[in-house]
Amino acid sequence: DALLDRVEQSMRNDLVPAEIFNNEELFRAEMERVFTRVWVFVAHESEIPGAGDFVQRRIGVDPVIVTRDGEGDIHVLSNYCRHRGSQVCQTDSGNSRFFTCPYHGWTYANDGRLIGTPMMQRAYGEPLDPNLWSLKKAPKVQSYNGFVFASLSDDVPPLEEWLSGGASWMLDLILNLAPGGMRVAGPPERYIVHGDWKTAAENFAGDVYHLPTLHFSIQEVELIQSIQFTCDISGTYEFANGHTFIGHHWTEAIGPFFTYGGYGAVPGYVENFDLSGYDETQKWVAEHMPPTVGTIFPNLSFIRIFSPLPDGPPGVFTSFRQWQPIAPGKIELWNWQFVWNFQDEESARRDYVGGQYCFGSAGLFEQDDTVAWEGVQRAAASPWMRKEGLEFNYQQGQKSPLDLRPDPDWKGPGVHRKTTYGEYPQFNFLRQWLATMRENAPKGTSR
Ligand code: FES
Ligand code: FE
Repeated sequence: DALLDRVEQSMRNDLVPAEIFNNEELFRAEMERVFTRVWVFVAHESEIPGAGDFVQRRIGVDPVIVTRDGEGDIHVLSNYCRHRGSQVCQTDSGNSRFFTCPYHGWTYANDGRLIGTPMMQRAYGEPLDPNLWSLKKAPKVQSYNGFVFASLSDDVPPLEEWLSGGASWMLDLILNLAPGGMRVAGPPERYIVHGDWKTAAENFAGDVYHLPTLHFSIQEVELIQSIQFTCDISGTYEFANGHTFIGHHWTEAIGPFFTYGGYGAVPGYVENFDLSGYDETQKWVAEHMPPTVGTIFPNLSFIRIFSPLPDGPPGVFTSFRQWQPIAPGKIELWNWQFVWNFQDEESARRDYVGGQYCFGSAGLFEQDDTVAWEGVQRAAASPWMRKEGLEFNYQQGQKSPLDLRPDPDWKGPGVHRKTTYGEYPQFNFLRQWLATMRENAPKGTSR
């Protein structure tokens, strides 16, 4: 808590102590105060469409099994056996009505109920009470637009409320642009990144500033004419509870054929879009400044851009990614590609490949980002820098000549700014993090 006091002090001056991006004790506190308290994304419904389907997931550092039972209900079960704690489910995904622990064979139904113990008569004399010995379950499980979230705390607002104030409004726009919605294109790709989960989350919350430097190579290989301009045409959508999205004024900057962020220019997409169900502001966002990246607090992020595949016309990819904390300064990155349900197999495959080409583990952009993030956690753990009390600079915008204020004409939820110079989205995320660590009710959407 002394460190959190320091963070609060620093943030008043638009600074953030480096240490928070790699600290043992703080990490433990994050797992207890953030990941066991708030809503955390666990699966998309299209990953478990049928009775008996399951996927193994994580909530913070805890493994969970997300199952669909015979009635169609979704359960989020702790993957720790009640006998000695072994992981009862050892596979990433599958279909099963029950899980048998590999250690001594206790068996649980896919709703978590204990249904069998080997040598029951001789070992226990009578069946163990399933009311006492079933798998622990996440007390709250809810879906929004196909996205399944779970909370390990009973004491959370309903999911719709957690996402209200803008996040669900934006998710609707991202997911329902074409009637029929979207589905996962396959299981998530996973890889270890030596970066802190907050570094990744704040990058996707609103760091457009890194594009011209870190991603300059995509200009060098002539996939884009100028990477610099993407900074100058970006703006923010800051929502309650630390959720943030970034959009780009593609249409104004490049021309009407760039409506929907470029994918309007790609044959096969725009004819399938239907804006009639949206409010006026959502229509404006779709046509003028569509969301390109964003972060749903704490650790789910989004990116959708056109994919400049080297052969043939560009496609569009939509990726949701989760920054799974596994240790201080270390994550397992989970990357799901999404495709629209209107797409045929060939077009869906093309977008999947395009997404991997840009943001797969060996993707053009991904490799840039993950290497830079490694440096952050190294600085954060450095004995020398700790001695210096190193703070990171979030002062961008303090003296910028640009108009950084919330757009006074904005009719949508939350706050909209016409520029991302100012690091407001990152602060929106970090303020929510601090408030959650302090166990205060989150307030306000910007610094
Ligand atoms: Fe699972 Fe013993 S630890 S049956
Ligand atoms: Fe990047």
